[in-house]
Formats: sequence, structure tokens, C-alpha cells
Amino acid sequence: MKKILSGIPGLDDLLDGGLHERSSTVIAGPPGTGKTTFATQFIYQGAAALGEAGIFITFEEFPEIIYRDAMNFGWDLKEQEAAGKLRIIFTSPAVLKSELEKENGLIDRVVAEIGAKRIVIDSVTLMEQISCDTIELRQLFNSLINGLKRLGLTTVLTSEVPLLFGHENTFETSIGFVVDNILFLRYVEIESELETALTILKVRGSKHAKDIRKYEIAENGVTIETKFSGHQGILTGFPSRMISGKTLLEEGLIRKKR
Ligand SMILES: Nc1ncnc2c1ncn2[C@@H]1O[C@H](COP(=O)(O)OP(=O)(O)O)[C@@H](O)[C@H]1O
Ligand SMILES: [Mg+2]
Repeated sequence: MKKILSGIPGLDDLLDGGLHERSSTVIAGPPGTGKTTFATQFIYQGAAALGEAGIFITFEEFPEIIYRDAMNFGWDLKEQEAAGKLRIIFTSPAVLKSELEKENGLIDRVVAEIGAKRIVIDSVTLMEQISCDTIELRQLFNSLINGLKRLGLTTVLTSEVPLLFGHENTFETSIGFVVDNILFLRYVEIESELETALTILKVRGSKHAKDIRKYEIAENGVTIETKFSGHQGILTGFPSRMISGKTLLEEGLIRKKR
């Protein structure tokens, strides 16, 4: 199966060469971890550098905000749109659903017009309000993802999870069951500094890195960095420093709180 590049430095190596064409990926994480930035970078780099036109569907932010925030990273989305390589669509979950169910609906038409290969939906969290029934939601997401796959699109969805540290930070929404790949973003506290970490929880049909990577959002966008060396317990959100492979706790240098 062909793989495409994400446009995020360091990520494709972790994914053993990139995302499968026509696959679906959810980027899940608490507010401010950079989900929208990851998704925008995927679409912008696709259009501007990788020869793949893209569609960015936003339920939450007005297009003006998307343009402005992207411009802060040097990504001129308007220019790509004018060149016919990108389209931003501000809509509601209900409208998107009905357009996808229609014969030759909005997404079909845009795909035909610009030859889109990638699509982002930011975020699916609002879509969850279409129904309170888990089974129905799962069916909704399933038909959404299959519809986009049928159009030949590689899909990136963002999903908001509550801001929590530690083990509670699990990801249990129905979207996780229907997508091919799950990238999980989280905050970790390292020596009184808040850092951000990425884990790849699942990749269908491919091997992938299992380690926890630091990532940085800077002036050029997202870059995946090294592992957190010398720390363990990253998934708890409160890692401890290791001394020659042992933690301070194990060394008995600090006493466990009860
Ligand atoms: N131009 C920039 N330079 C560096 N960091 C930025 C810039 N713009 C946004 N960020 C960082 O990105 C984060 C927001 O990312 P965003 O993609 O909106 O998060 P989410 O969609 O997960 O809520 C902010 O917390 C901020 O730290
Ligand atoms: Mg966002």
C-alpha cells in the first residue's frame, strides 16, 4: 500500500514512512496541545510542498482565524486556495453529514474541482453531539470515514479530550474504534516545565514506533523530537528522573507519599 508524507518533520519516521493513502487518522489531545496545528500543517505541506491538494473542514473556528493562525507559521493558506490547491470549508456537523450522504454533495464537488487527496476535519468532538447513542455515533463515524475513503482521500481528524494528567487521560470516544491510526498528544510536567508528548497508539497495517516523543511547536510549526531521556513514568504525566536506570523513588532518595 502506498504511503504519503505527513509534512510533519520526524513523524513519518515514527510511522515507518508515512500515512497509508486513504487511511484515517485521529489526532487526540487536550486543548492547546496543537491538534489544529498538526492538521493545518498536514494540509498546507500537502498543498505547498508535496503536490497533494487538500480540504480543511472546520466546525469551530472561522476561516479568518485559521488563515491568521497559519500565517503565524508562515503558511499562506489563501495563496494555496487561490492556486486551487486548498479549500477551507466552515460548516456544521449536520450539514457535512447530509452533504456526504447526497449524490454529488459538497465534498464530492470540491474533490473533483481541486483534485483533493487529503482532508482534515477539525474537530470531530462537535460531531459527537449529533447523537448520544454510542452505537449510532460509531456508525456515523464509520460512514463518514468510508465516504472519505471512497473519494480517495487520506483523512486527518482532530478530537478533543479533557485536560487531565496521568492515567485518566485515556481515549474512549467512538472515533477511536473506527479510524486506522491514533496519535495521542498530552502534556507532561518535567522538572516544573510543561512539555508536550506524542504517542502513536495504533496504526493499522503497519509497524510504528512505540516510544513517547517530545514535540515542539515553534515558528515553523510542529517538529517531533527525541525521546524523553532519563525520565520514566511519562504516561502518568508526572515523570521521575532516573539515576543509572533507577528512579529517585527506587533509590530511596525520596519517600513515597501515602
Ligand atoms: N506561532 C506560534 N509559535 C509557537 N507556538 C505557537 C504558535 N501558534 C500557536 N502556538 C502554540 O500552539 C498551541 C495551540 O495549538 P492548537 O493547534 O490551536 O491546539 P489545539 O487545537 O490542540 O487546541 C498553543 O498552545 C501555542 O503554544
Ligand atoms: Mg484546535
